[in-house]
Amino acid sequence: MKKFLSTLAVSALLASGAAKAAELEVVHWWTSGGEAAAVAEFAKAFDAVGHKWVDGAIAGGGGTNAIPAVVSRLLGGDPMGATQFNHGRQTEDLIQEGLFLDLTELAEKEGWRDFVFPSSLLDACTYDGKLYCVPVNIHSWQWIWLSNPAFAKAGISVPSNWDEFVAAAPKLREAGIAPLAVGSQAWQSTGMITEVLAVAIAGPDAWSKVNVDKDAGVAGGAAYAKVFEAAANARALAADISVTDWNLATAAVITGQAGGQIMGDWAQGEFAVAEQVAGEDYSCLPGLGVNPVLSLGGDAFYFPKNKDADMTAAQLELASLMISKEVQVSFNLKKGSLPIRGDIDLSSANDCMNKGLGLLADGQILPGGNMALSRDTIGQIEDLMVQFWNDSSMSATDAQAKYASIIASAD
Ligand code: GAL
Repeated sequence: MKKFLSTLAVSALLASGAAKAAELEVVHWWTSGGEAAAVAEFAKAFDAVGHKWVDGAIAGGGGTNAIPAVVSRLLGGDPMGATQFNHGRQTEDLIQEGLFLDLTELAEKEGWRDFVFPSSLLDACTYDGKLYCVPVNIHSWQWIWLSNPAFAKAGISVPSNWDEFVAAAPKLREAGIAPLAVGSQAWQSTGMITEVLAVAIAGPDAWSKVNVDKDAGVAGGAAYAKVFEAAANARALAADISVTDWNLATAAVITGQAGGQIMGDWAQGEFAVAEQVAGEDYSCLPGLGVNPVLSLGGDAFYFPKNKDADMTAAQLELASLMISKEVQVSFNLKKGSLPIRGDIDLSSANDCMNKGLGLLADGQILPGGNMALSRDTIGQIEDLMVQFWNDSSMSATDAQAKYASIIASAD
């Protein structure tokens, strides 16, 4: 095993405050228009202090390709300078392997726990009292994005909830518009069904019982039967248009080819790049307009240990920049996510971001689905959902039964 810098050496680096110029390879999966514009804000800030951001983007929404590649590099002793993961349990085994730089001293020196909101974002990567990540945003899956021009063309008003959206499908189709755009990757149908439709149709309490308490009885019960019926309905509504990547489905809404997309608020970054205005060109319904809620998903960066003092100092400096007020504003406004600190000016937030900030302030929040389930359980659920989504012969009842049995053995 390579010799890493001791905690004492890291403390000395922090105390010195002087970091020599270093190049850091940063791995992430932000390659869509909006994501690239946002991650460029991190690179710009890092380069501006004299270091060099070496971009290690690995395309594939949801980290589908990046996460396995990063895990295998880390376990194979080929660490990068920094890497993205989602908030939650994706890194628990890697943390326990001792592969990441301990950021506790930096966080205490800068008072992260005083301004990170909600502070639970720090808990997700705290192990044995030590902090191993810098949270950079809050992304919520709990949204549907609607094309205002599409509904105008169909001669109907923009829906204010899921039932109105479903009822609008025939008029949209008459106008030659696909009702719903959903990409074919497993994480997309999974998130739509098990995060968004579940909260809207079964409710936040039932969702928590399944995703936090792992209650298979609720997963197999009457409330979730309605979720899977709605999922089968959504599957039919999405049959008019076929896309792979999430941002291509967002593009269909941006161009008015599709009426709506259920997707996390990273979709906002695409509307921003297309210079579309929230509330005018597009509308957004948190919790599908049924149970307005924000799920605390999102992203954090981890810094693999290495034996180079200059690189370690640069890693600490990047962590500090990512959580700084200025960079939190510039990055999140481009990313479509909410910042992780409650002490910054967001007067430039748009109509949808303000809806999210309002839910956050009112405590209308749920943990992200990644937070409580292991990578393995999430993988099993994704395999089931992509099969259900792509095979219309699989019934809602059958899919629900399989889902309940996965929850019964979830860890
Ligand atoms: C999520 C991530 C978002 C966005 C999305 C689509 O996992 O938190 O930042 O990248 O994937 O790729």
